[in-house]
Amino acid sequence: MKTYDIGVIPGDGIGPEVIDEGLKVLRAVMKIEGFDCNIITYPHSGAHYLKTKELATDNLIDEWSNLDAVFLGAIGHPDVEVGLVERSVILGLRFGLDLYINLRPIKLYAKHMCPIKEKGPEDIDFVIVRENTEGLYSQIGGFLKQGTPDETSIVTGVYTRKGVERAVRYAFELAKERSKEKSTPPSVTMVDKANAIRSHDLWARTFAEVGEEYKDTEQDHAYVDACTMWMIKNPEWFDVIVTNNLFGDIITDLGAILQGGMGIAASGNIHPGKTSMFEPIHGSAPKYAGKNVACPLGAIMAAGMMLDFLGEKNGGKRIEDAVANLLSSGVIPSADARSGLSTTQVGNMVTEAVYKNAES
Ligand code: IPM
Ligand code: MG
Repeated sequence: MKTYDIGVIPGDGIGPEVIDEGLKVLRAVMKIEGFDCNIITYPHSGAHYLKTKELATDNLIDEWSNLDAVFLGAIGHPDVEVGLVERSVILGLRFGLDLYINLRPIKLYAKHMCPIKEKGPEDIDFVIVRENTEGLYSQIGGFLKQGTPDETSIVTGVYTRKGVERAVRYAFELAKERSKEKSTPPSVTMVDKANAIRSHDLWARTFAEVGEEYKDTEQDHAYVDACTMWMIKNPEWFDVIVTNNLFGDIITDLGAILQGGMGIAASGNIHPGKTSMFEPIHGSAPKYAGKNVACPLGAIMAAGMMLDFLGEKNGGKRIEDAVANLLSSGVIPSADARSGLSTTQVGNMVTEAVYKNAES
């Protein structure tokens, strides 16, 4: 039987609760599709750091790089220095495993979940390809004269031709694939701020040059400020958006709201052909932790993306179909902590739907 080595990092806050439900659904798909997962659980989190002072070491990152995939819940603890464990574990994985694509689908499954009036599932179905290893996340910079009136802080935005090109190419290839599935022309929009930040001209030139190889693909450009407006006003214009790390971080939260909230948004941190990491977009949400109210759909959808990545396309589709049906029929009324359903109930409902759909 095909067996995948999956590292699981439940993390902090609601992370462990949503991961449990993701694994529950994953096990159902395993049984139906006939493959196995060897689950290796790692304790790394803010809570674990408080107890042990342990962060993600180089050795650990090496160990993770020998797995088939990593499934992560959320990192972030109110009693730990801001961003310390996030940078160690999440950015450790992204940079350490060179996961240069952060893939974030924005798809609305039920009209009532969309906060934009007159927009429905036919209008909101696009993907954001976020460059994941460069930009303002480079960690190059620091503080001078810290804590004095002359304090200076500097951060360097890093954009390499190679880094930009591989993200742009990924976006063009993805648009081609999606165009086959959706029977619409392939379309890529590159989002930058090259009018004010001249170094983004590298993005503009790379996009134009690589675009020469994709003449059948509609190619568009938007400055990030305008992009946020178009995402609300005309989300139907977008199919694949490609952008730098920080802009991608920002516009994917906006995208999550278009599709019904952070509770359903999932993402893949991908290096094609190598160990990749899958996580819900939401954070640890300490105020909901331990209450069994957080929506696990983001984690469940991330598990679906992981299967897709591993080549278990049918398994990934089983998860997406089950979630789509439960949402569009209103059986699961919303993807947030106010759905009236517990974390466990939502996980059970998706699991049952996956089994039921396999019987029929
Ligand atoms: C995300 C998160 C992370 C990011 C944080 C937790 C470091 O916001 O995955 O979008 O900024 O990339
Ligand atoms: Mg974010």
